[in-house]
Amino acid sequence: MSLAGHLHDSAEEYPMLREAIRALAEEKIAPQAAAADENEEFPWEVYKALVAADFHAVHIPEQFGGAGADALATVIVIEEVARACASSSLIPAVNKLGTVPLLLSASQELNARYLPAVARGEAMFSYALSEPEAGSDAASMKTRAVRDGDDYVLNGTKMWITNAGVSEYYTVMAVTDPSAGARGISAFVVEKSDEGVSFGPKEKKLGIKGSPTRQVILQDVRVPAWRMIGAPGTGFKTALATLDHTRVTIAAQALGIAQGALDYAIGYVKERRQFGRPIADFQGLQFMIADMAMKLEAARQLTYTAASMSETAMRGTPVKELTFFSSAAKCAASDAAMEITTDAVQLLGGYGYTRDYPVERMMRDAKITQIYEGTNQIQRLVMARQLLK
Ligand code: CAA
Ligand code: FAD
Repeated sequence: MSLAGHLHDSAEEYPMLREAIRALAEEKIAPQAAAADENEEFPWEVYKALVAADFHAVHIPEQFGGAGADALATVIVIEEVARACASSSLIPAVNKLGTVPLLLSASQELNARYLPAVARGEAMFSYALSEPEAGSDAASMKTRAVRDGDDYVLNGTKMWITNAGVSEYYTVMAVTDPSAGARGISAFVVEKSDEGVSFGPKEKKLGIKGSPTRQVILQDVRVPAWRMIGAPGTGFKTALATLDHTRVTIAAQALGIAQGALDYAIGYVKERRQFGRPIADFQGLQFMIADMAMKLEAARQLTYTAASMSETAMRGTPVKELTFFSSAAKCAASDAAMEITTDAVQLLGGYGYTRDYPVERMMRDAKITQIYEGTNQIQRLVMARQLLK
């Protein structure tokens, strides 16, 4: 039984989990982070190491063969992986994003069919909502699913799909009733091996280069009707309800990236000497470091609060503040990560601007956390709607 599996009820076990995942990250993940970025390759060795330690999809419940980690434990795992390598942290994060739609809305049978392979590390699961013309306005998607006998036939292009090509399974949102707007969207499980599924070229990105981002192209893909997640017309609600849980994991990724940059910068300023003394002696830099740590801890508290709400909701008790808190956590943590990583580059001076040091990669990686799972403008829109309704 994995350590993560014990974490439901005992607060003392979170520090033990953090220690275990940090040790793994320092030994097996950090050493390859620069190469994953430079070569733009999916870190298969990291995947294997995460699977061996049962950290690749910790949130899958024990009844489906998973570690059964709660939302806070999942956050801690993602944080610690991201502290070493942001690209690698998308392994546990996207496995959660792809499977939460099933955990929230699918039948026991569908869950039992797909989740155990993810828990065993034999398959990864991606989430396909966005399209070339439907990003922030996700409900304006064009991908169609038309009923034909016992099947649905899917046609369309999903854009920006994280881990596309390396994942076996995809939660795909598609329009089943074009006259019903957001209530005419349904969610399906699509398999990589389904006839008619193909992938676009890898996007050439600013950061998280070790995580492939590709189009998922669906051409007359025949999916049995039992692979629909929940009832017809509930796909958009499921997609948004999922994001209420997984924006917390993007917040965790942002915290991890920021912590990595802060830790590196603190070590550096104590060693680097100018004007005859360590640059850490200069109050101008001390205040920068204090501000970086303060912003990080504030974002962390918000993220852990959101994680605790997410866990309560996953266990079946609705939490009406979850939508606000998950958006607030994602927004605050990603904005903090961008500021902290930018300041870390500044603290290293010219060296920080080169690839000989990890902070420029962290700064490039941090930027995506302000964009995906809804841009930070959209998070503010979500928060404002909650406050004003
Ligand atoms: N949970 C459940 N249902 C919800 C919900 C929630 N949090 N929020 C809204 N809904 C329901 C509404 O009640 C409504 O249903 P009814 O009509 O039955 O009442 C329906 O969903 C539509 O809601 P809205 O009218 O509010 O929808 P909208 O079209 O105005 O858009 C939006 C809402 C918040 C802008 C949404 O489109 C959004 O979040 N956009 C951003 C897209 C996004 O986050 N994409 C992430 C892609 S994944 C990714 O990026 C992956 C990665 O990081 C690795
Ligand atoms: P647009 O929606 O075109 O937005 C452009 C600008 O307009 C942004 O600044 C935005 O904030 C602003 N804007 C738009 N509407 C409003 C408004 N109402 N008010 C104020 N400002 C607004 N999607 C998936 O489904 N699955 C994935 O796995 C996935 N992974 C991704 C990985 C990467 C590396 C990237 C770059 C994206 C990924 N996405 C994924 C898509 C991501 O969620 C979208 O890029 C994001 O939601 C924004 O959509 P867009 O890029 O079309 O921008």
